[in-house]
Amino acid sequence: MSDWQKSDWRTKPRVQMPEYTDAAALSAVEGQLSAYPPLVFAGEARKLKKQLGAAARGEAFLLQGGDCAESFEQFSADGIRDTFKVMLQMAMVLTFGAKVPVVKVGRMAGQFAKPRSANTETINGLELPSYRGDIINELAFTPEARLPDPKKMLQAYTQAAATLNLLRAFSTGGYADVHQVHSWTLGFTEGEKAAKYRELANRISDALDFMKAAGLDSEHEPSLQTVDFYTSHESLLLEYEEALCRLDSTSGKWLAGSGHMIWIGDRTRQPDGAHVEFACGVLNPIGLKCGPTTTADDLKVLMAKLNPENEAGRLTLIARFGAGNVGEHLPRLIKAVNEEGANVLWTCDPMHGNTIKSSTGYKTRPFESVLREVREFFGVHGAEGTIPGGVHFEMTGQDVTECTGGVRAVSDEDLSDRYHTACDPRLNASQSLELAFLVAEELSARRESVAVKAG
Ligand code: PEP
Ligand code: CO
Repeated sequence: MSDWQKSDWRTKPRVQMPEYTDAAALSAVEGQLSAYPPLVFAGEARKLKKQLGAAARGEAFLLQGGDCAESFEQFSADGIRDTFKVMLQMAMVLTFGAKVPVVKVGRMAGQFAKPRSANTETINGLELPSYRGDIINELAFTPEARLPDPKKMLQAYTQAAATLNLLRAFSTGGYADVHQVHSWTLGFTEGEKAAKYRELANRISDALDFMKAAGLDSEHEPSLQTVDFYTSHESLLLEYEEALCRLDSTSGKWLAGSGHMIWIGDRTRQPDGAHVEFACGVLNPIGLKCGPTTTADDLKVLMAKLNPENEAGRLTLIARFGAGNVGEHLPRLIKAVNEEGANVLWTCDPMHGNTIKSSTGYKTRPFESVLREVREFFGVHGAEGTIPGGVHFEMTGQDVTECTGGVRAVSDEDLSDRYHTACDPRLNASQSLELAFLVAEELSARRESVAVKAG
């Protein structure tokens, strides 16, 4: 794809993008962003790609999670720290189950633009453009707030840069040292899962004591002190993505400098559309959401376009069918992948197919459905002999009440207590940990069955 240009998407049909009314203001912002430093670097994207390639072979496991939509108003150091903490904790639980490294990728530092099911929203007879995320317009229901404002891209960039700066510090500055395993506990000091986590943390501490006695402590083994933590977001607002695209001098290839991994959403995966065109030309790992309406033929075309060289770790398929629908859709897409001999990493997003309206009017996701979709995903891969290589969640370290259920049994009535999401309902810290234990159980059952078959 050597003749690819970062602006090529402009000639293709686009959906889910705002119509900016002030062309001069838009091009001024694009000019400014084009001169700013990229947020991530090509070597990092390549390293992530290698790790995702290992996950596709079953030699690692992807944990991808974070906000549905990052928000300007709720931006805080504590929020970032808590989500990071929960991800470390989930990763620890998963490592124990899978006995392979867990690749940690946040939906962070760029997850600002949202696709919407309707272009407009009508309240009391007033029709206004839909809210499309803080990088585009504002949630308040007034004509001014809903007008897309290109300057918001600059604020999103600044917030993403500050977020990444903190994440880089947490990843390498001692906070992520595995010896801190006891201090990552969050939001679940009581209950069965908390006890289970403490027990696991004790076992890890024991193992670390043993290693230290044997001469292997953090000082001699720096990998115990730090983690690799990557960022990702939906590559939706292509003016922003194009402005942050940079030529990598080492390889001569283009890098999406906005995040390590970018994905294409379920509503923007038209094979001849603008979003696929943009993703085709950048060297980053690419995610592709696959939903009930993804056809086998489209998937084949998309795999050929997005990964023409069949490179390991380049393409992650993120299945999001909804509980009860996985058996109907996943096998036909696995068949399409197998027929093409395509190298993909299969992951499960058990959030986006399970959104309902609660009896109290809130958009929610029953935790039971989330768990069920994960089980179905593992079940189908077990039956097909393919590799379930990762999970993709909307979660937060905050103690929110947005998804119903879980050990602390959030009810429809409880949703109003702490419902803070700027878009879709997220798992809270306790629900996230519970889910990690379920995935760890599925992974260790799978490991045993693979060992039995091999032995
Ligand atoms: C999302 O991940 O926030 C999203 C909108 O997902 P999907 O494209 O799968 O609906
Ligand atoms: Co969402």
